[in-house]
Amino acid sequence: MLKNKWIAKAGLAGLSILFCFGQLSAAVLKKGPYLIYDGVNTQMKVLWQLDSSLSCTIKWGRDASYSTGAANTDENGSGKHEHQHIYTIDGLTPYTHYLYKINCGAGVDGNGSFYTAPLSDARNVKLLVYGDTRSFPADHDAVNREMINTYTSDPEFQTIALHVGDWVNHGYQEADWSSQFFDPSHTYSNKFQANIPINGVRGNHEGDGNLFLKYFPYPYETGGFYWSFDYGPVHIAIVDQYVDYSPGSVQHNWLKKDLESSTKRWKFIVLHEPGWTAGGHDNNVDVQNHINSLAVKNGVNIIFAGHNHYYARADVDGIQHITTGGGGAPLYDPDSNAEKIVSSSKSYHFCEIDIRGDDLYFTAKDKNGLQIDSFHIALPTKMPASMPSIIAYLFD
Ligand SMILES: [Fe+2]
Repeated sequence: MLKNKWIAKAGLAGLSILFCFGQLSAAVLKKGPYLIYDGVNTQMKVLWQLDSSLSCTIKWGRDASYSTGAANTDENGSGKHEHQHIYTIDGLTPYTHYLYKINCGAGVDGNGSFYTAPLSDARNVKLLVYGDTRSFPADHDAVNREMINTYTSDPEFQTIALHVGDWVNHGYQEADWSSQFFDPSHTYSNKFQANIPINGVRGNHEGDGNLFLKYFPYPYETGGFYWSFDYGPVHIAIVDQYVDYSPGSVQHNWLKKDLESSTKRWKFIVLHEPGWTAGGHDNNVDVQNHINSLAVKNGVNIIFAGHNHYYARADVDGIQHITTGGGGAPLYDPDSNAEKIVSSSKSYHFCEIDIRGDDLYFTAKDKNGLQIDSFHIALPTKMPASMPSIIAYLFD
């Protein structure tokens, strides 16, 4: 009898140890799922990272049956890519809402949704812009909460978010990516990342970009973290200021050709260090001398930057130079009297862009949804192809 009791106790203890061990060894989703957009309106790239080696499945569809497609995924690679999964969903319909979910075993799952990018001939689009999300993830979370409110109240904003760089404090350290940008405890940031693709630039805090490339593998041009893409009626050029962009450089030649060849009515440049800003870090004279002139010649409407942790807008040669560095980094005091500055605010904030044909409506909002700036750009009405001959006839 005693022997049986001992065996029973030993068995229970063993089960307890197994249960505890099982709990301790359960895989954990460390990052994501999150989204990036490679510039193809029939695709969306989904990324996530576990703490151990597991195969996963991803399913997607127009509703919660996830019946459009499914795939199995394995780790993207070893070394720094350990336990990272990347899957590009293809064959989607442009400007369409999809749901997706991933599963890597019991209790290791995630889900989200997205809109594919608009058709190339779309005339209207809405999008979001922010950046400098480093250092204070709780403030980043608060900004993302209000950005979620924006696309919840108006689903046309669930499109894409542009990021102006300085994603984390030490971009060369895995620990900062884990505890800042991707920290699973910051639920609004996690939700935001799972439901809208984020495309952005390398800031100085991303260092050599080694880990930035891991987490944000956009289809870069050779030799730097610069590239461009179209989003409906907008052409967006991503400039890397930590690779030479002076006249004659490979990047400058690329940017010149890129802007000249785009036929989009709207053009944005996204970079990190602003040409005209409101104090803190000085105005970047290379942007003033090498980028602004290209922008003027090629019909760029807005140049987005960060680096200084506030909101500021400079109006230079009709181009709006936006500093939107209030995504979570410690705030600076903007100098409202700085050269060319027409608006500024010491706020955690983000920007909303609403393009309707030849009109662009811009609103900057703080983390509580209060408007801190707005402006409107109206493009000159395009002359119909037949007009020159009519004019020639009238004045003949
Ligand atoms: Fe910076």
